[in-house]
Formats: sequence, C-alpha cells, structure tokens
Amino acid sequence: MTSPLRNDRFLRALRREPVDCTPVWLMRQAGRYLPEYRATRARAGSFLGMAKNPEVACEVTLQPLARFDLDAAILFSDILTVPDAMGLGLYFVDGEGPKFQRPIRDAAAVAQLAVPDMETELGYVMDAVRLIRRELDGKVPLIGFSGSPWTLACYMVEGGGSKDYARIKAMALNAPQALHRLLEVVTDAVVAYLAAQRAAGAQALQVFDTWGGVLSPAMYREFSLPYLSRIARELERGEGAQRTPLILFGRGNGPYVAELAATGTEGVGVDWTIALEEAVRAGGGRVALQGNLDPTTLYGTPEAITTEVGKVLDSYAAGNGGSREGHVFNLGHGMSPDMNPDHVAVLVDAVHRLSRR
Ligand code: CP3
Repeated sequence: MTSPLRNDRFLRALRREPVDCTPVWLMRQAGRYLPEYRATRARAGSFLGMAKNPEVACEVTLQPLARFDLDAAILFSDILTVPDAMGLGLYFVDGEGPKFQRPIRDAAAVAQLAVPDMETELGYVMDAVRLIRRELDGKVPLIGFSGSPWTLACYMVEGGGSKDYARIKAMALNAPQALHRLLEVVTDAVVAYLAAQRAAGAQALQVFDTWGGVLSPAMYREFSLPYLSRIARELERGEGAQRTPLILFGRGNGPYVAELAATGTEGVGVDWTIALEEAVRAGGGRVALQGNLDPTTLYGTPEAITTEVGKVLDSYAAGNGGSREGHVFNLGHGMSPDMNPDHVAVLVDAVHRLSRR
C-alpha cells in the first residue's frame, strides 16, 4: 500500500482546482548543477549506468526534493530509453550528447522496428517508478515522461543531436510515407510506455516535444501535432479526481496552444517565447498551463529572479481573469549544469510566497 498524498497542489492545479499557492517543479531538476548528483554519477560511472539502475535512479530523483520545497518529483531517466529498447544502441559521448549506433535512415530500417516489451526491455524504468513511489511515501506526486514521437524520430534519424535536422527534414520531403510509418510505430511505443509508467505508479505524465519548434507550421501540423493528439486520445488515464493528468510540453509550441488544448490533454507546457497571458487565452479554459520562466533567469541575482518569477505569475493571472488557478510554475526548458543551486531555492520560495492565496 502507498500512503495518501500529503502535497497534492500539483495535481489540483492540473485539474484547475483551487490551491493554497502555485505549485512548482523544474525540468532537469535532478542533474549536474547539484554536487550530490555529480558525486553519485562519479560513483555509478556514467549517465546511462545511473538511469539503468533503479536504486541509483531513485536516489537521484529524490536529491532535489531534499534541498528544495518542490511540489513534484520527476522520474530520473531519459527520453532516449525507448529508441534504445527498439534496438538502436544508445550511447553518450562526453561533451557531444546522445548518439545511436544504428540510426534509422530508410523505409527498410523503419520496417524492422517493433514496440518493445515494457516490463522486460524497459523493466528498469518501471522498477525505478515503483521504487521511487515507495520512497516518496506520499510526499509529492511522481511525474513519468516520454519524448514526443517527432522528437524521438529526430534522434533516431539524425543518429544524435543536430543543428539543422537536415536528414529528418529530407526524409519528410523525399520519403514522407516512411517517416509517417516511423512516427506511427514510435507513437505506439510512447502510448505503451506512458501506460506502463502509470501502471507502475506515475501520478502525472509529461510528453517532451523538444524539437517540434524546428518545424514550419505546415510541417508541425503534419509530423508532430497529429501524433501528440493520438497520445492524448489513446492513452487510458482514468476519470475524475483519479485521472492521471497528461502534460504536452514543447519548445516553440506557442503558436499551437489552441490546437494542443483541443487534443484532450489536461495540461500544456510552454517555453518563454510566448507570454503566458496569451497562452492562457489560447487555451480557452480547456487546459492547465505549465511554465514558463526563461531558464537563464537563474543566472540573475536573487532580486532579479524574484522579480521575474512575479512577472510570470502575474502574466498567467492577467490572461485568466485575475485568477492564479490552473497554473503550474516551471522553467520554459531544462536547467543547465552551471546553474547555482542557491538560486533554485530563491526561485521555488518566490513562487510559493508571491502566489500565496
Ligand atoms: O527533468 C528531469 O530532471 C528528469 C530527467 C530527464 C533527463 N533527460 C535527464 C538527463 C529528462 C526528463 C530528460 C529528457 C530529455 N533527454 C530530453 C527532453 C527534454 C529536454 O531537455 O528538452 C532530451 C532532448 C533528452 C536527450 C538528452 N539526454 C540530451 C540532449 C542530453 C544532454 C547531453 C549532455 O551531455 O549534456 C541527455 C543526457 C541527460 N539526460 C542528462 C540528464 C541529467 C545529463 C547526463 C549527465 O551527463 O550526467
């Protein structure tokens, strides 16, 4: 048996119910900016070694919660576990980011792909979710996550990070059926992956469409949005207060908030390139909004951070008829390794203090 939740602000905000203050968590809240993370990583040997060991993944997930008054935990893992389990051979080169041994470059390679088994090939992720839930013991909810089909396909086709996405965009132009077939099988895998995390105990689910914003509007509506929409439609997540909320986050998704809200998702996460006020209006009262402080604000002084936090909170309320309900505070994207942990404490406390009802 797991304990009842002692802090449910985050889940209440996603249901757009009243809360005592605005909940906050930060993308990449467990990471290299924390000395205790660097110590665990040195002991574990590598990032993938950490992610594939449930005890270590659990330890690292809990590290930021021991320091800061965060309102949610996020599973320590990576979006690239899914293509790795599909046989692409994930590895990391220091300073160069993620790479695949066997990228997907043509229809023949796409045809070889299958949805991996969640409890065997990705069993280490589900074991980590179960262990983290047990260790959290109801302190805050646990967020599970996946990459979006488009973002995963970017890494699978490019074979790693990319400056211009030339290979996958060429595939979109020259072999659109092969790319759609790839996005279909990846979407099947993402739906199964999120469902398995939910069954293992994840209390909210976020999809990271990190690279949706590199597409033209026409291409976004052909290659990213329909697959996000399929996830929102097909992912079984319960009813009423028991429903496991889904958040669709994307870099550069500001122009598409109305369309994302229409997918049936409970939350939309936006980056800092759209005023939250406009995002709330575009959401039309159908979704909760998550975001959207520019992460580089953490390089500012404590005074500057506090001012900027206030602006984000007030921008949300301005778009929402003066009400702060339905807002989950976050950065517009992940934290960087050179950020100061003391500044994170300032940010978290400012969110709670300035939004106290
Ligand atoms: O938010 C969290 O705290 C949860 C953990 C998490 C990680 N990656 C840990 C991680 C999450 C949610 C991700 C998602 C992820 N991974 C995304 C989508 C979100 C985003 O940031 O846009 C993407 C694009 C990836 C792929 C990936 N994994 C990249 C580009 C990198 C950075 C490589 C580098 O050398 O900087 C990773 C590695 C990674 N994932 C780290 C962490 C903490 C750094 C690992 C390390 O070297 O210790």
